[in-house]
Amino acid sequence: MESTTWSCVIGPEGRGATEETGEYLSRNPARLDDVVARVRLAGPGTLLDAAEHARTAQREWARVPAPLRGRVIAGFGRLVEANKESLAGLVTREIGKPYVEALGEVQEIIDTCDFFVGEGRRLYGQTVPSEMPNKQLFTFREPVGVATVITAGNFPVAVPSWYLVPALLCGNAVVWKPAEYAAATARALAELAWRAGVPGGVLNLVYADGTATFEGLERALQAGVVDKVGFTGSSAVGSRIGELCGRYLQSPCLELGGKNPMVVTPDADLDLAVQGALFSGWGTAGQRCTSLGNLIVHNDVHDEFTARLDEALRAAVIGEPTGDVLYGPMLDQKFADNFERILDEIGGHHKVLGSESVGRIGDSAPRATFRGDPSTGLYYHPVLLDGMRSDDTVFLQETFGPIVGITTYDTLEEAIELGNAPGYGLSAAVYTTDPATAFRFREGIGAGMVSANNSTSGAEAHLPFGGNGRSGNGGRLSGMWVIDQFTRWQSLNWDFSGTLQKAQMDVDTVEPELDYRLPAQLRGHA
Ligand code: UN1
Repeated sequence: MESTTWSCVIGPEGRGATEETGEYLSRNPARLDDVVARVRLAGPGTLLDAAEHARTAQREWARVPAPLRGRVIAGFGRLVEANKESLAGLVTREIGKPYVEALGEVQEIIDTCDFFVGEGRRLYGQTVPSEMPNKQLFTFREPVGVATVITAGNFPVAVPSWYLVPALLCGNAVVWKPAEYAAATARALAELAWRAGVPGGVLNLVYADGTATFEGLERALQAGVVDKVGFTGSSAVGSRIGELCGRYLQSPCLELGGKNPMVVTPDADLDLAVQGALFSGWGTAGQRCTSLGNLIVHNDVHDEFTARLDEALRAAVIGEPTGDVLYGPMLDQKFADNFERILDEIGGHHKVLGSESVGRIGDSAPRATFRGDPSTGLYYHPVLLDGMRSDDTVFLQETFGPIVGITTYDTLEEAIELGNAPGYGLSAAVYTTDPATAFRFREGIGAGMVSANNSTSGAEAHLPFGGNGRSGNGGRLSGMWVIDQFTRWQSLNWDFSGTLQKAQMDVDTVEPELDYRLPAQLRGHA
């Protein structure tokens, strides 16, 4: 068990903190008496200090040739791979994610590194023709500068890697503020990055609470030492960060909440749809931003689908996350508290399915298919709510817990309208055996990510990840698309004519005979 308290700023150079606000204990949510990390939390001044430090280090890092930065990313990927089991074990211990899923999460970092190793040898710019002779145009990708990256802890290593890996590869320095409740996991990931050769000042890890982070970010933006903000978290905080960045003419990369719909059509393979709903609705205890939010099921198959899903959910094993379970505990006490508030929204018009009880699993509210000791952790019964209405809070708001509601529809247009109604737009799924239905759904749904016959979760590491509406501001992480977040285009206009050639003015022109019409002999034989 961890007994020493870590500083609020961690780097291999052992830099100390400049300002602290208190201590935080990161606990294992499956065994609350297991303290995984004890950390000091930074005050706003420390975030500013870290960004200033990063600013200096970034200049040198940007001068390292991109293919060499790619080698550092290659080493990082290999080191993560060599430490895959211990990193996944730490994810499971610190946030309660089932071990098999935690292995998948660590794999996502390796995949991200694999993708960006090659980018170090591309980062292509273009050669562009000029409108004048003896002149050549070019474009270059330039690093943005210093990125402050603020991440949630539900994917405590994969999602941060979606920012860190491309940001570093493109020549930026990063100040990373991870979720406090994933402090140990964050430190382990940062340690692997430093051991791979990322210089200390180029990646700075700072522990802080939300209030200090916001104030520190404001001061750093004011001081001109932050050039890009990346944020994964709630839509409410995302909109405050967007507002703050807008004042400094910056457009942050915001990856926010979701209320991801799944439409089950009358021609769907119902067993497949049940599997998809189970995994995306209740996997990770519903605490993915891609978790299924609303089930929108055709009236003709509603009864059959609901009965099969209820049966599957009751049979699903929940419990100790080191074992083979559908889900373990809530990530942290604050997520359990939030889920309790969501449960208060269950009304008289709802039919509650999926488990023997509602709320915390324990001696007074047991679950037959629970494995482990429920009293040691933050374990909750799964909830399937039939009879959900489109004005219910559980229909309109992200719940971030193991609860999914079902509503019904008659026409595909109606299903699409219901899917879009909450105003989020992260992920959506349709189950159908008719390709035309899948394509019509894709066209109508306002989500950044759409699945046909697969769940709302499970995005691959090289496809654009991100949402619309309340789910984000249009930015995309992953693959080649994220490069636009961490580089800026610079154009070069190179004139070697020896004279001042003025664009638009000193350009040769060609005058077409606009009055010309094809004569009879050129219009073919009569
Ligand atoms: C998140 O929930 O923040 O698509 C990320 C998925 C994972 C990533 C989710 N690959 O569910």
